[in-house]
Amino acid sequence: MYFGVDYHPEHWVHPYAGSTEHPEARWERDAQLMVAAGVNVVRMGEFVWGLYEPEEGRYDFGWMWRCMDIMKLAGIKVVLGTPTAAPPLWLSRKHPQVLPLDEQGLALHEGTRHAYCMNSDVYWEYSRKIVTELAGALGKHPQLIAWQIDNGIGGHKTEFSFNEESRHDWHAWLRAKYETVANANDLMGLRFWGQVVTDWDEIPMPMVAPTVHNPALVLDWMRFSSDTCIAYVKMQADLLRELTPQVPATTNLRCLSRHYDHFDMAEVLDFVSLDTYATLQRRPSENAVEFDIMRSLRKIEIKAPGGEEGFWVIEQKAGNVNWQEVNSLLRPGVVRLFTYQLLSRGATGVLYFFWRSPRIGPEKFYGGVLTHDGRGDNRVYREISQLGEEIKLLAPVLRGTKVVAETCILYSHPNAWKLRQPQQHTRHFRLWEHVMLFYNALHDRNIPVDFARPTEDLSKYKIVFAPSLHLLAGGEADLLKLYVQNGGTLIATFNTGLVDEHDMAPDNGFPHDLIDLFGLEVQEFDPIPPGEENHLVFKAAFPANHLHGARLWCDVIEPKECQVLATFSKDFYAGRPAMTINNFGLGRAIYLGFMGQPAFYQDLVAWLRQMCNLFPLLKVPDNVEVSMRQKEDTRLYFLLNHQGTPVRITFYKPMHDYLTGNTFTGNYDLPPHGVLVLDEHMAKGAPPT
Ligand code: GAL
Repeated sequence: MYFGVDYHPEHWVHPYAGSTEHPEARWERDAQLMVAAGVNVVRMGEFVWGLYEPEEGRYDFGWMWRCMDIMKLAGIKVVLGTPTAAPPLWLSRKHPQVLPLDEQGLALHEGTRHAYCMNSDVYWEYSRKIVTELAGALGKHPQLIAWQIDNGIGGHKTEFSFNEESRHDWHAWLRAKYETVANANDLMGLRFWGQVVTDWDEIPMPMVAPTVHNPALVLDWMRFSSDTCIAYVKMQADLLRELTPQVPATTNLRCLSRHYDHFDMAEVLDFVSLDTYATLQRRPSENAVEFDIMRSLRKIEIKAPGGEEGFWVIEQKAGNVNWQEVNSLLRPGVVRLFTYQLLSRGATGVLYFFWRSPRIGPEKFYGGVLTHDGRGDNRVYREISQLGEEIKLLAPVLRGTKVVAETCILYSHPNAWKLRQPQQHTRHFRLWEHVMLFYNALHDRNIPVDFARPTEDLSKYKIVFAPSLHLLAGGEADLLKLYVQNGGTLIATFNTGLVDEHDMAPDNGFPHDLIDLFGLEVQEFDPIPPGEENHLVFKAAFPANHLHGARLWCDVIEPKECQVLATFSKDFYAGRPAMTINNFGLGRAIYLGFMGQPAFYQDLVAWLRQMCNLFPLLKVPDNVEVSMRQKEDTRLYFLLNHQGTPVRITFYKPMHDYLTGNTFTGNYDLPPHGVLVLDEHMAKGAPPT
């Protein structure tokens, strides 16, 4: 288990620390304070290209080597960033074409990080050069355990740059995909509004225009831009594998907030890392879902440092951020709570951003583990140090344990990109809201859930939820059928199979390619304005505990072989199916032709649990979050109280808590923001209760 901080030694040299005689004197003190806090890893160097190479071809890696030596003496391992997220000024002055152009064709200027176009050959060349120099200079340092490629790829719309080189690459990408101009015209539907082309060069990039671009073209542009980001990271990963084959590579992702395919990105890395700026949310599930997604991005062949699997949290907010409207402090105990939430969902490394609030730059009032004074007597440092002690206790127990989920939610980036385009059936539909209705219902029952794209092998899951797969490729539809055929239970919804991978609507009925699977055909779609509802009438086969309504969207369904579980009660489709089930092969395909209120999804999950023999992890009050990591005969339960008040838990059998060494039976009051890490066995020598 790695426990650490994001350290920026370049912030802590003279004149900001140290002295003229010993400009780097502060680093040793930092290492001592880190050791005292239980830190065993630091990430460094993600923005220091301009310091490694202050002028073209003049390199200085010595200072970082010295810093790594200090870490060595302290027994702290190092993750090094490749510094390409922040190009030096000399580079863009010499080659202004590396600067990205926005959708109006205007340059995003130098003087900050991320000022580069990922299609620029010049930028690729310079990136290769600095990465090669870096690996040559520091790659053999014994402390190095991983590379972080670049930092927070994308953001500020830098996933899309409209440079001449992008145009060139875009045309090459289209040519590779469609092979002939005629195919491109046909499959992108360019004859709509007469936008056909006679040559690849005529295909536009979707820049600012009087009205919408062809949606199939925009979708391809999203795919192309995503492939661009991934190719750029892969270029560095491949290079590093060649130069330092023993050192795994990652990059830090922000969950679903960047415009590239996160699953594709995970494929080119050895392990996945997350930046999390979790704050106390209305529901703990809003943070949990990010962690479950991160864990799910890469499920096999994970090569994290120390032979561990799982994912890393390479930046966890330690104090306050500096980009919210009001940058409130995390209350005492909350960083600890979030750290356990991360561990409980599969993290094997957690690092806090950042070590110390800097004296300079735009993030100077970002809350560090240390405050500006660097003394180490501040609240956050004390909290992290307590955690450091606990992690030492837990690390051996956590080793090799994993989260195992029997349910899964499908998520596809091309579908999400498609659903973000204008001219949808209703502007009030949000894919994420739809996903969260299912996720929350599972989370409330503490049922572990993975995420997957529809092309993955789903056979290990008892239940698969597929909210609004509006864009469904033919191959994806076949895999869903295979999953059900072999005994799986699939729940799909309205807004499924409306277009294929070319954004083309079918001419043989909805949901596209899935009519036989669900045993029904959707004949019309009826979006409902906000505030209005249809009513649902349930048959005995679905025991609804409440009256449930349909909102936002109702499908007008023609049943074929399916069994009807609920009907609409109003409007011209009163009496027609709203919810159905169809036996298909050895499995069941359930269709929900509406969006419900949260309570409906609670009833749905309760019904599915019975039907599919799915058990919650532990019986606890509703407001306690439970997750489990397991291996062979070990089952570790994490119980988290996200509230500011205690919660009473009743243990029906003795449970041993690793954090305190206590064994609990009967009633226990879990304190505000409190955490338990339990197993069912009595620890050796634990006192009987
Ligand atoms: C991260 C980034 C950090 C810092 C942080 C602020 O995504 O990697 O360098 O800027 O955001 O929240």
